[in-house]
Amino acid sequence: MAETILLTGGAGYIGSHTYLALREAGFDVLILDNFVNAKADVPARLERITGAPVAVLRGDVRDPDTLKAVFRDHRIDGVVHFAALKAVGESMDMPIDYMQTNIGGLLNLLKAMEEGGCRRLVFSSSATVYGDTRVQPIPEDHPRTATSPYAFTKLAGEQILEQLTADWAVGILRYFNPVGAHRSALIGEDPAGHPNNLVPYVAKVATGELEEIQVFGDDYDTPDGTGIRDYIHVEDLAQGHALSLRALIETGMGHTVNLGTGQGSTVLQVIEAYSAACGRALPYRIAPRRAGDVAVLTARPEQARDLLGFQATRTLDDMCRSSWAWVSGQIRNATD
Ligand code: NAD
Ligand code: UFG
Repeated sequence: MAETILLTGGAGYIGSHTYLALREAGFDVLILDNFVNAKADVPARLERITGAPVAVLRGDVRDPDTLKAVFRDHRIDGVVHFAALKAVGESMDMPIDYMQTNIGGLLNLLKAMEEGGCRRLVFSSSATVYGDTRVQPIPEDHPRTATSPYAFTKLAGEQILEQLTADWAVGILRYFNPVGAHRSALIGEDPAGHPNNLVPYVAKVATGELEEIQVFGDDYDTPDGTGIRDYIHVEDLAQGHALSLRALIETGMGHTVNLGTGQGSTVLQVIEAYSAACGRALPYRIAPRRAGDVAVLTARPEQARDLLGFQATRTLDDMCRSSWAWVSGQIRNATD
């Protein structure tokens, strides 16, 4: 019988792609989401892609009783915990809300799992736990530090999980920069308002919603002077979760791994790749550096390969093409 996996935050950007990867890997999946940062039609879109009903519960991880009821009413063999607030800037303005959702929600989940007898968990962490470091690419044993309330919640989450008893099997996945969209172009990243992150911003310039890209600094110590990041296709990232769960189930042992490609791209390279994907040279101007940005952030990806058999296969061009297919499809739908 297939294992049933609970995805908290499963209607969000990474969660919805992971839903599809887990279904493809043969898992049954139950989504729990309060839809604070997900569109209501995501489950219907997942149904269109899979051709099968999607099990969704609308609920909030800040409510312990909701989580306890999930484990009382369902046999859950493992959990992937995405549900969180994730904007670094916003976390500076509302640190308590970030801690309530990201740390309080995790604790509620762990208690419900303990009572429900489920001790397998995959946790969404972030390269943000490495802070501002010049060590590149970054290995998993690099010291951790919190440079924002958001980063603090991810670091605290990791540390809480490290305190659990030996009968728990926990996969801590540190994502680098997830971008792109599903090959169906039916799901993708859909940030409300003004995007903070590069690729969603570039996408809105490509669709004409925004006028030009601001490149935050061209005087970094990198080949073209702009910041370097380790962009990873969200479908590769989603696959990492299926492999993480499989490893937890088969070995009973936990792991902490970077999920990245190991390859960095500059801001100008991203703009060039996106311009090729959408078929026109996207306008940009050089702006001052953004506070808090580091020059380079790339993963050492070997541990994920060795422990999970994980290897990202999609290129920056694939990421930009899939993003463009998704955002341009959204516009076509809106004008049909
Ligand atoms: P997202 O906002 O698209 O997904 C998060 C989901 O959680 C949303 O569907 C939202 O509605 C839900 N949610 C939020 N608060 C909730 C609550 N109290 N109860 C129930 N559901 C709630 O974000 P994402 O990009 O898919 O990120 C998923 C996870 O990965 C997060 O934990 C995030 O911190 C982490 N992460 C993301 C990135 C990134 O660049 N996207 C990088 C590193 C780590
Ligand atoms: N950038 C621009 N213009 C923009 C937006 C970004 O030039 O409009 C540049 C940034 O300066 C940086 C690069 O593009 O050099 C990537 O920036 P993003 O905002 O897309 O991503 P970050 O690496 O800054 O942050 C992401 C997540 C954080 C997470 C961090 C580390 O958004 O939540 O990766 O994992 F903490």
